[in-house]
Amino acid sequence: MQKPVRVCFVCLGNICRSPTAEAVFQSQVRAAGLEEQFVIDSAGTADFHIGKAADSRSRAHAERRGYELTSRARQFKAEDLGQWDYVLAMDEQNLKDLRALAPTGSAQVEQTELRLFREFDPSAPAFSSVPDPYYGGEQGFEEVLDQCERAAAGFLEFLVKNKQISR
Ligand code: 4NP
Repeated sequence: MQKPVRVCFVCLGNICRSPTAEAVFQSQVRAAGLEEQFVIDSAGTADFHIGKAADSRSRAHAERRGYELTSRARQFKAEDLGQWDYVLAMDEQNLKDLRALAPTGSAQVEQTELRLFREFDPSAPAFSSVPDPYYGGEQGFEEVLDQCERAAAGFLEFLVKNKQISR
């Protein structure tokens, strides 16, 4: 059996977007019967909310679509970089902050694919982010879910095509 593909979703606070991405991807992986081929987690670049459950608005919107957000916020650390095959950032600032954790060309960065999650959303233009819903209205939380559902499905397809997982 191949080694599991290790995926970490990253946003700023690890209470809205990346917990949503984690739960949506986990749910698609489970529905496809591929759980054994993955290790899935999420983290934030900031330390504001360490230890907290996901935002109650994110949880409520996710629950209506059948997802349970069970994460506790943690901060992504430099040591995390080499431990993941894919680190999928929600926006360009997350990506910059992640890149700043390791010097360019270092072994840690070379082992890890650091990408924007919405690269895998077939409907999204290049360099699209999952916008931060924290200070906005309810619609923002629905949009995060829509974007995560499309990007998660696209990412799973990408891994199959890339022969990193087998169905
Ligand atoms: P997230 O959203 O990065 O999607 O978890 C945020 C959560 C909290 C804050 C900002 C964004 N904050 O400033 O506290």
